[in-house]
Amino acid sequence: MVITIDGPAGAGKSSVARKLAQRLGFHFLDTGAMYRTVTHLAMQRGLDLQDSAAVEGLASGIEIRLEHDRVWADGCDVSVSIRTPEVTRNIRFVADLANVRHVLNRKQRSLVVSNDYVTEGRDQGTEVFPDATCKIFLTASPEERARRRQRQLSASGQEVTVEQLLAEQNLRDDQDQSRDVGRLVAAADAITVITDGMDELQVVDHLEALVRGKL
Ligand code: C5P
Repeated sequence: MVITIDGPAGAGKSSVARKLAQRLGFHFLDTGAMYRTVTHLAMQRGLDLQDSAAVEGLASGIEIRLEHDRVWADGCDVSVSIRTPEVTRNIRFVADLANVRHVLNRKQRSLVVSNDYVTEGRDQGTEVFPDATCKIFLTASPEERARRRQRQLSASGQEVTVEQLLAEQNLRDDQDQSRDVGRLVAAADAITVITDGMDELQVVDHLEALVRGKL
């Protein structure tokens, strides 16, 4: 069984999807971490990120392992290095490459064959698992997402204005919504959940009720 959660950056998908998976006794797949891993390794190896054949070769050849909140690429722990601002800024070049998306889609499908999964990303309900048991499109207003991000950063000692975060977020939203393949869009049969005014526990409770209603 596969439950997909798609939505824009900053909608809180990862933590909500992880908690939902725990409650259901399912595995959790963070597909953004896979795009981040390929981007990080391509940068580290000095590849031209727009060289689709080179990046595809890299993506096909690496073994990406996701365990709890850690990410391993060919046995190396890349959990921290895939989340730097440089990787986030460059990821769009990799995410725009249709052949690389096909490689990662195949990896994602092969992971879920033997277990129940909650998967999270941009294209899970549309491209990767069109027959998923339940599809959620999780979103919030741009201002709410930027405010949440500011609170998160502030808690870790980084002070950034909401305006700056909003500008970066709008850019990422535009890039994610406008790519030719795997663009961010709600699947026709997805349930859209707008989380403005809800805390994380309320969102997880709501999604659990939605999913259990479909099982
Ligand atoms: O979810 P996260 O913010 O870690 O994803 C990073 C980026 O990876 C997204 O902004 C998007 O460009 C790309 N991505 C994607 N398809 C997915 C997951 C992530 O294109 N399924």
